[in-house]
Amino acid sequence: MARFGILTSGGDCPGLNAVIRGTVLQGSTVHDQEFVGFRDGFWGLVYGEAIDLDRSVVRGISQQGGTILGTSRFGPYTEPDGGPENIKRALQRIGVDGVIAVGGDGTMAAANRLLGDGIPIVGVPKTIDNDLQATDYTFGFNTAVEIATEAVDRLRTTGNSHKRCMVLEVMGRHAGWIAMYAGVAAGAHAILIPEQQESLEQICEWVVSVRDRGRSPMVVVAEGFMLPEMEQAHSYKGMDEFNRPRLGGIGEILAPLIEERTGIATRATVLGYIQRGGVPSAWDRVLGTRFGQAVSDLVADAGWGSMVALRGTDIVRVPFEEAVGHTKTVPLEYYRGARAIFG
Ligand code: F6P
Repeated sequence: MARFGILTSGGDCPGLNAVIRGTVLQGSTVHDQEFVGFRDGFWGLVYGEAIDLDRSVVRGISQQGGTILGTSRFGPYTEPDGGPENIKRALQRIGVDGVIAVGGDGTMAAANRLLGDGIPIVGVPKTIDNDLQATDYTFGFNTAVEIATEAVDRLRTTGNSHKRCMVLEVMGRHAGWIAMYAGVAAGAHAILIPEQQESLEQICEWVVSVRDRGRSPMVVVAEGFMLPEMEQAHSYKGMDEFNRPRLGGIGEILAPLIEERTGIATRATVLGYIQRGGVPSAWDRVLGTRFGQAVSDLVADAGWGSMVALRGTDIVRVPFEEAVGHTKTVPLEYYRGARAIFG
C-alpha cells in the first residue's frame, strides 16, 4: 500500500483541516493509500516526526480552525539539520513514498527546491491573503473576508455613535484582496491597498465628504498599503523566519494624520490574527475538501512537482514553477471600479 506524508506549513489558515480530511478520506476510499501527518510543517519532515492519519483521526475536523498537525515557518534548507539527504533518510525510516505540502508561496518555493533535490513532493495552495498566482482562490480567504466584513460592520455602529472616523487595518501582506473584498462588502468609504498609492490629501477628501453628508467615515487599509512618501510597506516588528518583513501598523500611522488634517476624531483598529482563527466558512471547507481529494488523486498518479489549483469552478493541476515567485495582486481596473464610489 502506498504511504504519503502531509504537512501544513507557514501561517495557519481556516480550511487546513478540511484538506487533511479530504485527502485521507479520498485516499482510503478511492485509492489504496495510507497517510501520516508531519508535525509543525517542514520541521516534522526534517526530523521524521509524524503521526498516523486514518479515518478515525480526521473524523469531524473540517469544521475546526487551525491545523491538527501544527505549523511553522521552519525552512527545510535554512535550518542546520535540514537539507534533502536528511529528509530522504527520514522518509525512508518512516516508510513514506511522497510528500504533500500544504502552504503558501514560501512553502511552494521550498517544495520546488526539494523536488529538484529528488524528493517526491506535491502542493496544495493555502493562504488567507489569496495572493498565489496559479489559483483563482485559496481556502482561508473567504473566512478572513467574512471576519473582516463583520469587523467593519461593528466598527460602523460605534463610529456612528461617536461621529468618529474609523480605520480598520487588515492583513494580506503585499496584496489587497482582503481589504478589497471586506471593504466592498461592508460599504467602506475608502479602501487602501498595496497595489495603489493614495495621497493623504485624497484620503482626507473622501473622509470629509462622508462627514459632510452627516455620516461617519469608514476606511479599510491593507497592512501593505503605502502613502506616496513611503518607500516600503510599514514594518516595525522585524523579519519573519522566511526573512520577509513582518508588516503591520499602517492603521495607527494613518489615524492621527487623518485626525490632524480633518479635525475629525479618528480611531484605528488592527484586526490581526482574528482573521486567521476560528471556524472556516462553508466555502473554505468545501474548497479545502476538494483540494484534499484532488491531491490524493495527484499522488496516486505520481504527479510530483504539481500543485492543485482552482480555475473557475474546476480543480486543476499546475506545475510548481507556475505557482512560485509571483504575487497575485488586485488588478488596477478592479480597484479603480471600487474607487469610483469612494467618499
Ligand atoms: O500570510 C498570511 C499572513 O497572515 C499575512 O497576512 C500576515 O502578514 C502574516 O501572515 C503574518 O505572519 P505571522 O504569522 O508570521 O505573524
